[in-house]
Amino acid sequence: MGQCAEIDAQRFDELGLLYSEELWNKTNFQRELPNKFEFSHIVFDGSQDVQGFWIASRKESNTHHTHRVAIRKRASSISRIKLGSLMGERSRQVARQAGCDQAQLTVNRENKVAISFYNKMGYRIVRGEELRSWVAADGSYPDKSLADDSIVVTNEYRLAFMKCDI
Ligand SMILES: CC(C)(COP(=O)(O)OP(=O)(O)OC[C@H]1O[C@@H](n2cnc3c(N)ncnc32)[C@H](O)[C@@H]1OP(=O)(O)O)[C@@H](O)C(=O)NCCC(=O)NCCS
Repeated sequence: MGQCAEIDAQRFDELGLLYSEELWNKTNFQRELPNKFEFSHIVFDGSQDVQGFWIASRKESNTHHTHRVAIRKRASSISRIKLGSLMGERSRQVARQAGCDQAQLTVNRENKVAISFYNKMGYRIVRGEELRSWVAADGSYPDKSLADDSIVVTNEYRLAFMKCDI
């Protein structure tokens, strides 16, 4: 988990708010949540160094919820293996087998690379009434407001809510 926190810090240093509004430490990675240790994936290279992670858990009874995804920078630039897609597919496959039929996540609206990556995996940005109902049901970010296709958390931070069937 220490190596996951190290990648998190690396991507946080590089991308700042584009990646996330908070840095994760070992405790965040270790925190127990429903089905988290079945739905989450960590990729190691031949020397047992962590190259990336996909952290997810079950929300409600049928939803695969992604918390955090990152690939070590050199891993995505030197390797043609699609580590992000591989981990995401595997994570959702396990969730499907465990009875989930929906997947969801939030991502900084300005993180175009991540949005294009999630689009390629089948996620779409939720808008309009569907976004309003999700916000009403979700307890996180007490001061949030709504923009066209995103949730405004602070002046600097707008989140897109994405979902797909699995
Ligand atoms: C987003 C991230 C996890 C993608 O991982 P990855 O292993 O590089 O992605 P893959 O190789 O599986 O790419 C799958 C698809 O995503 C899209 N994609 C990936 N990187 C991209 C880039 N730099 N620019 C545009 N699209 C990109 C492409 O559509 C790609 O398919 P293609 O290669 O057939 O065109 C990785 O770039 C990353 O760690 N980013 C920093 C952390 C982050 O933003 N996390 C998400 C927010 S929580």
